[in-house]
Formats: sequence, structure tokens, C-alpha cells
Amino acid sequence: MDVLEAILDRRSVRKFINKPIEPDIVADILEAGKWAPTAGNLNTRSVIIVRDVLSRKQMARASSQSFVAEAPVVLVVCAHQRLAARKYGKRGAYLYVLQDTAAMIQNIMLAAHSFGIASCWVGAFNEDYVARILKIPPGVRPVALIPIGYPKIIPEVPDRDLDIHVEKW
Ligand SMILES: Cc1cc2nc3c(=O)[nH]c(=O)nc-3n(C[C@H](O)[C@H](O)[C@H](O)COP(=O)(O)O)c2cc1C
Repeated sequence: MDVLEAILDRRSVRKFINKPIEPDIVADILEAGKWAPTAGNLNTRSVIIVRDVLSRKQMARASSQSFVAEAPVVLVVCAHQRLAARKYGKRGAYLYVLQDTAAMIQNIMLAAHSFGIASCWVGAFNEDYVARILKIPPGVRPVALIPIGYPKIIPEVPDRDLDIHVEKW
């Protein structure tokens, strides 16, 4: 699948069939995530692969979004705020790490899509609860849950807009 096709064709999917994802495919998806750029090439992000059914249910509870538990794998993306702060101060801790993780999340979703695996970026969740359940260390912030799985229902293409200015706002 070519990159532009993957970008245009990917949808946020919230219904998955009951089929596991092969570990090699998860590894390939994360390899694509790894190659997203990071500020200063600091690699200020980690991913926790959550397959355990109880943990997936806890991720669903953390987000109050039951579909999260229905995906066979939930990727929990974390930002290393303390590491980024050492080199870039507040801008590193509160801006660069979020940009680093966002770039990786998009790579992950596009790579998953190229393997026929659907995903949804879940940003609304209780970070403290997730950090406690998954034993995420201090200075590292969980920023997104990405349930991935083979799709059951692919939603319609939503409306989209982009506010473009030329030369000046
Ligand atoms: C930062 C961010 C947070 C999001 N959080 C959620 C979420 O908590 N739950 C959810 O179902 N979708 C979430 N989404 C997915 C969006 O709703 C979805 O991308 C949007 O409706 C456009 O649909 P599309 O991805 O199919 O193009 C989030 C997306 C982003 C970028």
C-alpha cells in the first residue's frame, strides 16, 4: 500500500473481530513507529504492548470506552517528559514530547492499516490510573491508548477541513 493511499484510507475503527494479531505484525508496526522523528533524536517515547485481557479491561475502564477492551492488543504510548526536560527544559517536557509521540502514533496507525489492521487513537483517559496499573515510572506520561485489531466495522469517511493561509494569516 502506498503512503498516500494509507493516509487517505485509514479510519478510526471502534469494532474489531475476535482474531489475535501475530506478534511479528505488532513488531513491524512498532518498527514503523520507531522511525518517526523525535526532537534532537532523543527517542523520548515508549510503547507498552497490552494483550492481557484484564489489563485491556482496565484500559477500557480508564477511558470509559468499552471498545478499547475488545481490541486484541492495546498499545499504550508514553512520553518521557523528564528526559526531554534535561535537554530542552519546559519546551521539551510539554511540547516536544507530545509532538514526538504524535508523530509515532500516526506512523503506527498507518503501518497497522497497511497490514489490514485497524486502530483508534484514544486520548481521553485517566492517566494516573493507567500509570498505576501499568507501573509507568515517574517522569513518564501515558499520552495515548491505541487499540488495534482486525476491523469489524469501518466507519464512513468523515468531513475534513484544513485552514490554510498563504504568506500571512
Ligand atoms: C488527540 C486525539 C484524541 C482522540 N481521542 C479519542 C478518544 O478518546 N476516543 C475515540 O473514540 N476517538 C478518539 N480520537 C479519534 C478521533 O475521534 C478521529 O480521529 C476523528 O473522529 C476522525 O476520524 P478518522 O480518524 O476516521 O479520520 C482521537 C483522535 C486524536 C487525534
